[in-house]
Amino acid sequence: MDIRGMIRQMTLEEKAGLCSGQDFWRLKAVERLGLPNVMVSDGPHGLRKQDQKGDHLGLNESIPAVCFPTGAALACSFDRDLISQVGRALGAECQAEDVAVVLGPAVNIKRSPLCGRNFEYLSEDPYLAGQMAAGHIQGVQSQNVGVSLKHFAANNQETRRMSVDAVADERTLREIYLSAFETAVKQAKPWTLMCSYNKINGVYSSDNEWLLNKVLREEWGFEGFVMTDWGAVHDRVTGLKAGLELEMPSSGGVNDQKIVEAVREGRLDEAVLDRAVERILNVISRYLENRNPGVFDREKDHALAREVAARCMVLLKNEGDILPLKGEDSVAFIGGFAKTPRYQGGGSSHINASRVESALEAAQSHGFRVRYAQGYAMDSDETSQALLNQAVELAGECRVAVVFAGLPDAYESEGYDRTHMDMPPAHNELIRRVSEANPNTVVVLHNGSPVTMPWLDNVKGVLEAYLGGQAVGGAVVELLYGLKNPCGRLAETFPIQLSDNPSYLNFPGNANRVEYREGVFVGYRYYDKKQMAVRFPFGYGLSYTRFEYSGLAVDKPSIRSGEPLSVRVRVKNVGSRPGREVVELYVAPDHKGIMRPVRELKGFESVLLQPGEEKEVCFELDERSFAYYETRISDWYVEPGRYLIQIGRSSRDIALSQPVDIGNDPLPVHFDLSSTLGELMDHPVGALLVEERLRAMGAAMGGGGALNDQMRNAMMRDMPLSSLPLFSRQAVSEEMLLAMLKEVNGE
Ligand code: BGC
Repeated sequence: MDIRGMIRQMTLEEKAGLCSGQDFWRLKAVERLGLPNVMVSDGPHGLRKQDQKGDHLGLNESIPAVCFPTGAALACSFDRDLISQVGRALGAECQAEDVAVVLGPAVNIKRSPLCGRNFEYLSEDPYLAGQMAAGHIQGVQSQNVGVSLKHFAANNQETRRMSVDAVADERTLREIYLSAFETAVKQAKPWTLMCSYNKINGVYSSDNEWLLNKVLREEWGFEGFVMTDWGAVHDRVTGLKAGLELEMPSSGGVNDQKIVEAVREGRLDEAVLDRAVERILNVISRYLENRNPGVFDREKDHALAREVAARCMVLLKNEGDILPLKGEDSVAFIGGFAKTPRYQGGGSSHINASRVESALEAAQSHGFRVRYAQGYAMDSDETSQALLNQAVELAGECRVAVVFAGLPDAYESEGYDRTHMDMPPAHNELIRRVSEANPNTVVVLHNGSPVTMPWLDNVKGVLEAYLGGQAVGGAVVELLYGLKNPCGRLAETFPIQLSDNPSYLNFPGNANRVEYREGVFVGYRYYDKKQMAVRFPFGYGLSYTRFEYSGLAVDKPSIRSGEPLSVRVRVKNVGSRPGREVVELYVAPDHKGIMRPVRELKGFESVLLQPGEEKEVCFELDERSFAYYETRISDWYVEPGRYLIQIGRSSRDIALSQPVDIGNDPLPVHFDLSSTLGELMDHPVGALLVEERLRAMGAAMGGGGALNDQMRNAMMRDMPLSSLPLFSRQAVSEEMLLAMLKEVNGE
């Protein structure tokens, strides 16, 4: 496609028109130039292609498609290849259905367990979310179909999502809320990106020059186009200038006209419009020129959905090795979700599943001895005595009772947030009563986000299935009966209670403003710093086998910042079943310095090991693995000092630790009279100058008295330079200080 030539032939109206959709799901065509109207459709964990009546709330029908495990589940695999495989299947489905761009993945950080869309989002950790998103994108785009990485940015709640102002400092944004987008953009080059509805620090994402032109394009090198979330345009002309190319779905021509007028009146340079059109056409032509229509093989993708679901579920508790169940066990499956599983969430990601596989049907098809009782009404939160009694009776008759519980559809969805973390009373009561009737009770959870577990001590096993996609039941049975070995790890912390969560006092904000006051201390970064007990930590998950770590080694004991560091560790399966271990690498600063989390995830690998087998796992760490965002220099910075490389089974269970010393230049900060003596002494040149020129000061300020040296030094460190003349009785003059400042600032 000769894109530039095409733009030259287009009228101003045609160009403006191309910057908004034709309808809900199509971009506009320019027929006289042979440009067809390509289609976009929702994801992220399946294809929601609507042929007829379009809507973005999951209300109207879409074509039958395969619902894969949702983002919350997928992230628990800690497996880039696995999520990439899902992406490839999704891309192939899009090719078969002639969809040019699938709207996802969604990588917003789970700030609060209450966010209604947490089931779609990946993690509370930006490294994990970014890596998994990159895997997903590479998979989809390998099929020559684009993605739309969303929702950029700081869309961490559904309450007032279309208007709320997310107020966060730059370090928090860079380290937590932008970081997953940055990784995905740099590593996987998404064709498109979707901006969020909300404001960030007072400016709508769709108008946000800093966000779109500066950070996304200039700094990260994004080359695709930006589209709005559905209806997220604020000021169309400002948006176009700020780097927003496509408005979706369509303003019925109103906003196109505003673009035309702005160009005519000289308020908008036509070159800006041309550049936007070029970016849109680049993506369209990429799709059209690489068409590879195949068949949408729903059966094959269903099997993949089952395989993936089994790799995502997290075994949270397995007291006395209650699991795996034996084929000959008499087992009660209790709870409506055993027959009608909850496997996806509500809203724009809602898939019209081609088929749903329940645990009950799967157990029966394997020939296991399973009996069923519904236990609770599907349409009410309150206990039904009749259903409860039947369930308790059945539980008493079987060796093991497996209760399928969790959150019903109405509890979590796009468009609103939860108000508490509890499961319906009927579910909690059922588990309590069943566990009284049968000491061998196991709970299988279907939920998109953490729940409280008041019954945890009374049950022997808990399998977190999340919202595991349409084949969830088959996967649950494979894991319960040990046909497969659980290997998922929590991609988020399960707090004991909602009020433990760091965003608790500031979620979802007041009126139209939500302040991210917990800063970078999100998820385990907070719980670990506070040394607070949690229900289940980030990165946690059990297996039917056991693994041992040894031989953690770094290739160099000390490096200069910027030099790569290789880390090796051996992991061995010392149990009797094949299994996968997720090797988690954390970096923990071990020096005095800026306020930081105790440790942060900076590497992970999922390794398959046969019984007795040992493998060496290697990680390459780079500058960013050690850096924090330093607002004084508007850049990432690695503090010189010691860092610990830690291999953990969760953020709370560190198996091995190795130090590495990193050298770096001091922060290139500008000193002035408000700088403290301590800051000056931490600087190599400053330290020399203090030693050389200010010795006199010590004596002048000394005098023994009640202050010992240690106390005096501690007080002195925090003294601003401007106070020294007075407190040193002019032994240190302002002229001396100004001369020193010139030297230390290199002026
Ligand atoms: C959602 C997006 C979705 C779009 C189109 C919006 O309401 O926030 O995630 O892609 O609708 O359905």
